Amino acid sequence: MRISVIGTGYLGAVHATGLAELGYSVVGVDVDSTKVAALADGRAPFYEPDLDPLLRKHVESGLLRFSTDFADAADADVHFLCVGTPQRQDSLAADMSFVDAAVDALAPHLIRPCLVVGKSTVPVGSAHRLAERIEALAPAGGDAELAWNPEFLREGFAVEDTLNPNRLVFGVRSQRAESILREIYALAIAAGTPVVVTDFPTAELVKVSANAFLATKISFINAIAEICEVTGADVTKLADAIGHDDRIGRRFLNAGMGFGGGCLPKDIRGFMARAGEIGAAHALTFLAEVDAINLRRRERVAEIAREVLGGSIAGRRVAVLGAAFKPDSDDVRDSPALTVAGGLHLQGARVTVYDPKAIENARRSFPTLTYAESTIGACRGAEVVLHLTEWPEFREVDPALLGSVVARRNVLDGRNCLDADAWRAAGWSYRGLGRP
Ligand code: UDX
Repeated sequence: MRISVIGTGYLGAVHATGLAELGYSVVGVDVDSTKVAALADGRAPFYEPDLDPLLRKHVESGLLRFSTDFADAADADVHFLCVGTPQRQDSLAADMSFVDAAVDALAPHLIRPCLVVGKSTVPVGSAHRLAERIEALAPAGGDAELAWNPEFLREGFAVEDTLNPNRLVFGVRSQRAESILREIYALAIAAGTPVVVTDFPTAELVKVSANAFLATKISFINAIAEICEVTGADVTKLADAIGHDDRIGRRFLNAGMGFGGGCLPKDIRGFMARAGEIGAAHALTFLAEVDAINLRRRERVAEIAREVLGGSIAGRRVAVLGAAFKPDSDDVRDSPALTVAGGLHLQGARVTVYDPKAIENARRSFPTLTYAESTIGACRGAEVVLHLTEWPEFREVDPALLGSVVARRNVLDGRNCLDADAWRAAGWSYRGLGRP
């Protein structure tokens, strides 16, 4: 079976590499020639653990090719649509222009029976619309069928999530489509991965519902953190305690700076927007609160920083540890860390940021911030250190050593994962979020 992957961004590049690892001959097609050139050279244009060696392996083996020409996808039996659906500039809705453009560019090359498989996160109803568009535009007509197979990969674990998914969802309209998908994922299915076979709208909704649930869980614990801040309770202990109830579970109950990245924020907004369009806005109004709680956390970090500095920010030295939206990623899209760094900078603080992998991307988005080459470099002379992305190297830093380079030993742990006792023992004034 020959496979094409349309869109070689985060999702597509990892998916194409994963399929090559499964032994398929894959061509990745993208309109961005710089991205295609890097991938064809065996280099991912973003940081993802374990991806580069696999990518190199399969570019060298010849199983994996990349191209800017949609005609190179023409002889594939299966075409995965992996293009992005970011938030629109002018509303909360998902921007479908990249998906639509990909379908329009691919369809004229669908000259033989094939399966187009949507993986992008799309507003419910899109698959139905796209199936009609493909049938109308493809020379193969009804023999160019569509299926929807949402992707659940997490950045930082993308290769693992692609090769060993925790579930597979097949939105299909025929037995043939289901059989093809079962064949592609045969190895994971044989290893016990559960498969849910369903219709288009359910498959589309599974993805946004999963992300809405995760976002709600994080905002729930962050709302409780607000109450803890007023009452002197400790949200980390509280999360441990309620997490022991396996109906609740401890995962995704880490209170702190809240969620960011290219998925959760835009997916809950796109979901609300779509609910409005289909006359069901009331069902998801709670997601506006989930979003608001999340954004309040960023303001709270800035507020505590101001408090720690005695009420004035202008001209003060602030070290920010972390720029990526989460560790093991160089992705700075909607990064809580950079939002706080940028906000303090605008209020006149002298902010220096360090991140192990995301400095280049951060500099592109926030060129006016100052960037350091190391944790020590960022903290030299700082009056407060803000720990905003929980990279292992920040958790492992020696507080005594860091204490010797700062101007004042103030640390604000925006991720609640530094060893508070060790920092206090080294003479630091430690503040967390939602804990004493
Ligand atoms: C998410 C979903 O997990 C994934 O299934 C989907 O395919 C894409 O969106 P990702 O954006 O890579 O994946 O990151 P995730 O690990 O979910 O974290 C999202 C954000 O939530 C990060 O900013 C993280 O720091 C934050 N988070 C996570 C918390 O604040 N607290 C937690 O307990 C967990």
